[in-house]
Amino acid sequence: MKSSEEYIELEDKYGAHNYHPLPVVLAKGEGVFVWDVEGKRYYDFLSSYSAVNQGHCHPKIVDALKKQSDVLTLTSRAFYNDTLGEYEKYITDYFGFDKVLPMNTGAEAVETALKLCRKWSYQKKGLAPETAKIIVCDGNFHGRTTTIISFSNDPDARDEFGPYTPGFINIPYNDLNSLKEALKDPNIAGFMLEPIQGEAGVFVPDEGYLKGAYNLCKQAGVLFVADEVQTGIARTGKLLAVDHEDVNPDILILGKAISGGVFPVSAVLANDDIMMCIRPGEHGSTFGGNPLANKVAIAALEVIKEEKLSDNAERLGKILRSELDNFENDMITLVRGKGLLNAIVIKPKNGKEAWDVCLKLRDNGLLAKPTHGDIIRFAPPLVITEEQLIKCVEIIKKTILSF
Ligand SMILES: Cc1ncc(COP(=O)(O)O)c(C=O)c1O
Repeated sequence: MKSSEEYIELEDKYGAHNYHPLPVVLAKGEGVFVWDVEGKRYYDFLSSYSAVNQGHCHPKIVDALKKQSDVLTLTSRAFYNDTLGEYEKYITDYFGFDKVLPMNTGAEAVETALKLCRKWSYQKKGLAPETAKIIVCDGNFHGRTTTIISFSNDPDARDEFGPYTPGFINIPYNDLNSLKEALKDPNIAGFMLEPIQGEAGVFVPDEGYLKGAYNLCKQAGVLFVADEVQTGIARTGKLLAVDHEDVNPDILILGKAISGGVFPVSAVLANDDIMMCIRPGEHGSTFGGNPLANKVAIAALEVIKEEKLSDNAERLGKILRSELDNFENDMITLVRGKGLLNAIVIKPKNGKEAWDVCLKLRDNGLLAKPTHGDIIRFAPPLVITEEQLIKCVEIIKKTILSF
């Protein structure tokens, strides 16, 4: 077997340099733990950007994958298959929508939602062809396609990838007045947002923002589109982050943890009035709705309910934030989050920054990753126990105090 250094060299030499991973090479995962190739065990405090909410290699989800992979894996949508309808019924009942459109990655689901929103605006709202606009928020992260990065304000995500897709209006996040102003434009088709901005550094909007934004959209006759790719599936202490304010989005975008991180599965949910605006041949994906994905997603969603992972995220998130809030130190300047989607803001000390903190956390047995310089996200799998969480808090405190 190769050493960690050798695996890193291989990736460096033969892979595109589009990521800057923390130097640790993982070979195994189970529940809240991952192991590196040398056999050292770590607590996973990132959960593959909230895709592994159910824990690594959850036996029920892996079993669903194994069983289906012996029978039928892909039919394309040229034909019906005997798993898709069952999954469609399951997921629409689960989230309370008429219809689902299955895709694979989060970005594809976002693209699907944008296309659906535009279609609806021409067919139902009566906008003139090619005039629809969609409002989005500054600091957004919705994925990496050309259209999606067209309305990003992150220079790394956007620069030198133009020309950009028109038809988007950026407004500040967590600002209802700006939304109200922007909605005066009669060509607005929808407002798309993350209920908590994850990649930007776990920005939780003020209480009432989601409900207020939803109401403004309803008054203006535009669609409220929630991107819950990162916040959904119990991560923030409710099944969906919009559930904290009893908001029912017109279009709901899901990804990541609807497969428990076992397989790329994403989905767009909407009621008939909206979803039926897309007709045969107008949108699709070869792998979307494939039998493996369907079985895996059902199992992954069952685990969320069976193991009451929303409640666990809600309870343990409070403990995590209160432990870190009450921790006397001069490096953590802010703790924020909801459920088990959290972040700390690091003030550099003696030239040591968030990246150095993450390297030390790794040495002490906990894996986390900086996002946007000085912010470290703390988002363990939701199957973590209180005892394990307290051990993690001890690791974090010990690490911070070592600087
Ligand atoms: C809110 C949100 N939307 C969309 C995406 C894109 O998902 P994917 O990487 O699966 O394309 C992400 C990924 O982090 C995300 O956080």
